[in-house]
Amino acid sequence: MTAPSDIEALRARVRARPLPRHVAIIMDGNGRWAEARGLPRVAGHREGSASVRAVAREARAVGVEALTLYALSVQNLARPPHEVRALMELLAEFLESERREIMDNGIRLAAIGDLDRLPGAVRSRLDALCAESRGNRGMVLTLALSYDGREELAQAARRAARRLAPGDIDAAALEAELWTAGLPELDLMVRTSGERRISNFLLWQCAYAELAFVETLWPDFRERELLEVLADFQGRERRFGLTGAQVRGAVDP
Ligand code: FPP
Repeated sequence: MTAPSDIEALRARVRARPLPRHVAIIMDGNGRWAEARGLPRVAGHREGSASVRAVAREARAVGVEALTLYALSVQNLARPPHEVRALMELLAEFLESERREIMDNGIRLAAIGDLDRLPGAVRSRLDALCAESRGNRGMVLTLALSYDGREELAQAARRAARRLAPGDIDAAALEAELWTAGLPELDLMVRTSGERRISNFLLWQCAYAELAFVETLWPDFRERELLEVLADFQGRERRFGLTGAQVRGAVDP
């Protein structure tokens, strides 16, 4: 862990090396953060919203092209009604309070998942901000809401089957039907809170992504923690099935 004064140096180091173009984060540990403090779980989600702001801002500042955040799974919707209500309120609040920041920084907001399951008040704000920011050319911030990775694949298969003969449905055809079509290939998938699972998030897109599992609970994951995980990524060798010698450009014996 770096000292507070080192964050500028860390940022400069990260900026100087190739960045992951597309980073996805499973934001986990809000409940445990709150419980450890004797607070209601909702307090953890509130603090987690502050992490969303901080991490999105930092990702944009260093030059990540696409940030995809797992904000809500379909299964999360089965949590106690008061918790789901609080999450929806935080989301609506976020869409309101971040509107200026998103527009001023050229961020394009997008959402993936079964958006029809969101309450009307959230859906209308989400649709409005996605539409307003559509022409922005900075980082794409995608919120996965009421998201289900297997359902994304099933939907992609159904859509491909409507326009193609079975023999013509290949990987590229399926990929073109994913909710993430048009985003850069996923380079880095991060999960906070020490859990080591993908939990049905971006199943297809994970194919060659680097995985980073960090112990930090999401409400404590801020600028520094993002920079650390980016620096760790930059130290890895990605081989995409080739040998180390091949990717380093050496002659493979
Ligand atoms: C997982 O922690 C987190 C969630 C299910 C919700 C994530 C929501 C936010 C970060 C805030 C609102 C989102 C936005 C985009 C403003 P958990 O509750 O499963 O934690 P636990 O595993 O410790 O119980």
